[in-house]
Amino acid sequence: MARRRTVRRTVQKKSTVKLTLALSLSLTLLQSVSGLAVERKIDESDYLLLSDEDFSTPSCPSINQRNSDADVEPLYKLNPKLFITPIYIWGPSSQLQGLRESIGVAIRLNRTLLLPPFLTHNSDPIGGDKAVPVDVRLDIPELRKLISIGFTDDLTCRQSDVVFSARGIYQKPADSFPMQERVKRISAFEKATQMEVLRKDDSESTEILENPFLSNSMPSQKSPKLSGAGMQFSYRSDSLQSEYNSTETCATWLFPFNNYKYPVVWSAKDTPLTSGEQFFYQIVQHTRKPEYIREMASKFLSEKLDSPYMALHYRYDAIEWSNVCARPQKGRKGEVCDVLEKTGSKGLALSLSRFILQTGAFMSNLPARSSVIYVSSPPSEARNIREVMSLAEKILEGEGWNIQIVSTLDTTKYLEENYGDCGVLGDFKSEVISLVEQEIAYRGDYLLFSELSGWSSNVRKDRILDDKYFNEMSVIKLVEDFGPASPNYSQAALYSKVEEEKKRLAVERTPADFGIRQLNS
Ligand SMILES: *[C@@H]1O[C@H](CO)[C@@H](O)[C@H](O)[C@H]1NC(C)=O
Ligand SMILES: *[C@@H]1O[C@H](CO)[C@@H](O)[C@H](O)[C@H]1NC(C)=O
Ligand SMILES: *[C@@H]1O[C@H](CO)[C@@H](O)[C@H](O)[C@H]1NC(C)=O
Repeated sequence: MARRRTVRRTVQKKSTVKLTLALSLSLTLLQSVSGLAVERKIDESDYLLLSDEDFSTPSCPSINQRNSDADVEPLYKLNPKLFITPIYIWGPSSQLQGLRESIGVAIRLNRTLLLPPFLTHNSDPIGGDKAVPVDVRLDIPELRKLISIGFTDDLTCRQSDVVFSARGIYQKPADSFPMQERVKRISAFEKATQMEVLRKDDSESTEILENPFLSNSMPSQKSPKLSGAGMQFSYRSDSLQSEYNSTETCATWLFPFNNYKYPVVWSAKDTPLTSGEQFFYQIVQHTRKPEYIREMASKFLSEKLDSPYMALHYRYDAIEWSNVCARPQKGRKGEVCDVLEKTGSKGLALSLSRFILQTGAFMSNLPARSSVIYVSSPPSEARNIREVMSLAEKILEGEGWNIQIVSTLDTTKYLEENYGDCGVLGDFKSEVISLVEQEIAYRGDYLLFSELSGWSSNVRKDRILDDKYFNEMSVIKLVEDFGPASPNYSQAALYSKVEEEKKRLAVERTPADFGIRQLNS
């Protein structure tokens, strides 16, 4: 129903534009002949053609910003004859981090950054490793203000003349076979960019194993420096210039992720930043969500969430984490496993309720005793997290507290209804939903984030620029500090309400109506 309405509107709008154009052309011609009589007629046709919908629902956003503001003078003007192109590793969140590090490295090596398309997450319904145009995920005009960029689509570089490696394709230097998924990723890069990296000569297969690239790798693929977390560069060190000392025109940077270290800051506004911190946070500032995503988020928020809210990003996919936690884990991962094993939906609901009751005052401008929560989770967890929220709602209701819950389901529905016929939502639906949700989490007055999630961690970097560092807490910490196992926990009354609500839910339980796979990595 809504979909059909949108079709009509889109068609209508296009013809309106064309007609108005035609009319104003003929107006210019006619005006000299017959004066103002024509003008009234135009107003009438315009009036008839534009329905109320044209003013009340958003129309398709314009995405293509790759050539916008191309002549702006960047802060860092880079050598136009040397290029560097990142070959990203893993999913969308790691790719954004890889891009941010590539910007720093492009500046340090003084090479124009030649941007490849991003690649889809392997859980994307359209398939993994499919090319995503840069401007679907990134505000290109904003990046142009920082550094000189180009695009691999311009076909400036048809081959990688040198491979700067941040991580290698071998697990260990002694291995004779490369990791299949890494080679596969390089092939996906080649396909997306038409830029060649790998040797493809079958007849010399042993040589391919020894020397898999068309050009040199710096350092060599078998160098011990590339095992584990790979190369480690700090902001100040000159090792970047000496490790990647090449005058070749087209360089690729292989698999950057946490190789060019970001210093962690608490507040980007209040405390004077060191030059290293300034350098990195300037990069974060210039790699924000594209304008169309920010607009979609604004429209959604103004219609569905028009008050201060807490955003909750829950990224502990039960199956994935039970696999992770089946092995003994060290450090924080081990602690996270510990908490996840002990905490069912009841524990999480209790922690959240207790947190809200004890800290209810942290958000102003809301009616007394009420909270608004935006919940984002991977699809596999949507049903569990809804159960958690419904339990929390009941507990809080018993305390005279009202919570309003908005979730990924609402965002998905809103985007389908309003942008269902727009190309970008058809081609990159799960990309767009994830990006809009990141924007919503970034704007949240408070953030409950998932430790060890790249999605959460990127949102937190954006929030630091707005000085929201203190308005956030990890979900795991929430359970540790406010859950049943925390010190002095004695709210037996809360438990009884949980039991009642769990019984009711068990009766009403319906299959999850969560059709969209969301990208969380
Ligand atoms: C990069 O090199 C060019 C010369 O090709 C120079 O004009 C420019 O200042 C250098 N930029 C940086 C950021 O070092
Ligand atoms: C790069 O290599 C050249 C020639 O091999 C050498 O003269 C220069 O010092 C090197 N630069 C760095 C930063 O290591
Ligand atoms: C727990 O209770 C003890 C004794 O009543 C008190 O001293 C302590 O501060 C409480 N701790 C917390 C975390 O509330």
